[in-house]
Amino acid sequence: MARWGWISRALPLALATVSVPMNGSAASAQNAATAPAATPPMGWNPYNVFDLDYGEAEVMAQADLLVKLRLADLGYRYVNVDDGWWLKREGGTIHVRTSIYPSARLADGTTSLRPFVDRLHAMGLKAGIYTDIGRNSCSQRFRPNTPNLPEGSVIQREIGTYGHHDADAVLLFARWGFDFIKVDACGVADFAADVPEVRDGKFRAFPPLIARERPNASDAAELARQYAGFADAVRRAVPGRQPLISICAWGQADVNDWAHRYGQMWRTSFDINAKWDTMLANFDSAASRALFAGPGRWNDPDMLEVGNGDFDGEHLVAARAHMAMWAILAAPLILGNDLRRLTPGLTDVIANRAVIAINQDQAGNQGVVVSRDGDGQVVAKALATPGHKGVALINRGRKPMTLSTGLADLGLSPTAPSTIRDAWTGGAVRAVNGRITVALAPQETALLVVEGQPLERGVSLPADMPARFHVADTGYKAPDRTPMRQWVLAQIGFRPYGEPLMLDGRQDHAGIGVAAGSRVAIDLARRYRKVTLDPRSLSDQRGRFVILGDGKVLRQGTATRTAQPLSLNVRNVRRIELLAPPAAEGTTSFAWHSLRFER
Ligand code: GLA
Repeated sequence: MARWGWISRALPLALATVSVPMNGSAASAQNAATAPAATPPMGWNPYNVFDLDYGEAEVMAQADLLVKLRLADLGYRYVNVDDGWWLKREGGTIHVRTSIYPSARLADGTTSLRPFVDRLHAMGLKAGIYTDIGRNSCSQRFRPNTPNLPEGSVIQREIGTYGHHDADAVLLFARWGFDFIKVDACGVADFAADVPEVRDGKFRAFPPLIARERPNASDAAELARQYAGFADAVRRAVPGRQPLISICAWGQADVNDWAHRYGQMWRTSFDINAKWDTMLANFDSAASRALFAGPGRWNDPDMLEVGNGDFDGEHLVAARAHMAMWAILAAPLILGNDLRRLTPGLTDVIANRAVIAINQDQAGNQGVVVSRDGDGQVVAKALATPGHKGVALINRGRKPMTLSTGLADLGLSPTAPSTIRDAWTGGAVRAVNGRITVALAPQETALLVVEGQPLERGVSLPADMPARFHVADTGYKAPDRTPMRQWVLAQIGFRPYGEPLMLDGRQDHAGIGVAAGSRVAIDLARRYRKVTLDPRSLSDQRGRFVILGDGKVLRQGTATRTAQPLSLNVRNVRRIELLAPPAAEGTTSFAWHSLRFER
């Protein structure tokens, strides 16, 4: 009875999800060309290079260059204002700081960013703005000396959108015409009653919804509710238009579990800076989450630092590596440098068509980590044509190395003919005995386009279609995890704590390691005939697993070390769901081994 109890409890839950519309669902994948953010958004944002010390003149100078240098033609279209544009909130409305946005001063004494937005639109660009889901912004708490902080009384300085969702959505989208908004979260993280500036009466207290680096102490449900409220207000303000919402909650409070419902991209880490190691940490925060991304829902490791610090014109090898890593992840490509200081070398880094094409590939698959050995890492991104992959071979370290990967590990036939070229130079690369080997300088990434054949004709593996996966917000939650890297609910080829997923003594690149009790849905869109998998558990997990097809039980059973591979008839099935056995004493994870999808 107890065993079945779990299944019948799980079933209504699973059934309930079938009809829940999700961003990036089968419908939006099919509709890739028309869905909002069908491919990762591209554009420019001032924060990395200007911090908060910029205004309309600087932004317009960059916008001009996006057009003149034809960067806009390559896709860099969103010109996004960050923190610092506001003066105060009065009578419920936000007033613009006209000393730095002079075009916002209207004859009747009010302020409006409509002229600014109209100019960007007239240039063929899109306009992005910034707010905070709480009452106050990050700069108010962390940049007391910046020149552009809100002014006035405690209440007038509450320029965040908390309690003003509808009014702000109407102002920013219906009246001013913005196309994009970054919604930051310091207002719900950093204004607790015991913060000195709050105690001193400078700000009202906001009981934190985000406890930084402590997911279990955060109120993820309430945070999600706030973002949901904002997204609803935007929908009401401009029905049918769907401006992009970029959720800036830094990978905290289980943001990966819920952000896809309320935004098209979400930060997976704290702020990037122009240092190599920070860039790597931000890369890692997104790289382990390939199963959470797809058309209309992108992991965001933060804006690019190409052109700045460790990635400036004197460090083109590192600049190319950073760009290649964001490209392979299907990360949003938001430039964060001063385009007035671009050198020809840096222009080549941000404007390489083959590199951008990997990032913008219409299938919307994020690159999947194939291997990591010391400083060597291989990441492969399935492109829309079966058998075609972008492959990044990354030297994370400060010494030269030789790095190699087998075509079979990329899910490609080691014997069928393949064409391999270097995305940066177009130069040909050869596989020898089914392996690609490159010599890499310190901090160098080789970015290749491999046009090969699938390992088996007519068969897709998980790494060929991560955009079809949807990881549900259930399952075992590690008590000691940090949200950035240490525990990921579902990964291809790795267990949730990051160890390689092994089967018969080899890494199972076709398996997914998941949290016990998790639910992973896969959009098949009636395109597949048969799914095969091997339910052998890693950890002597004895609980029962369930596999649903469009809400009906296709198979259930007990995972044991000797269980036979399963073969499921999925003709006409739109979505299957894999329900892992619940956590039991000592078992926190489960593995769906050797998944194959036959057409
Ligand atoms: C936060 C965000 C940054 C930037 C600053 C502005 O730190 O994560 O990207 O927007 O606020 O103050």
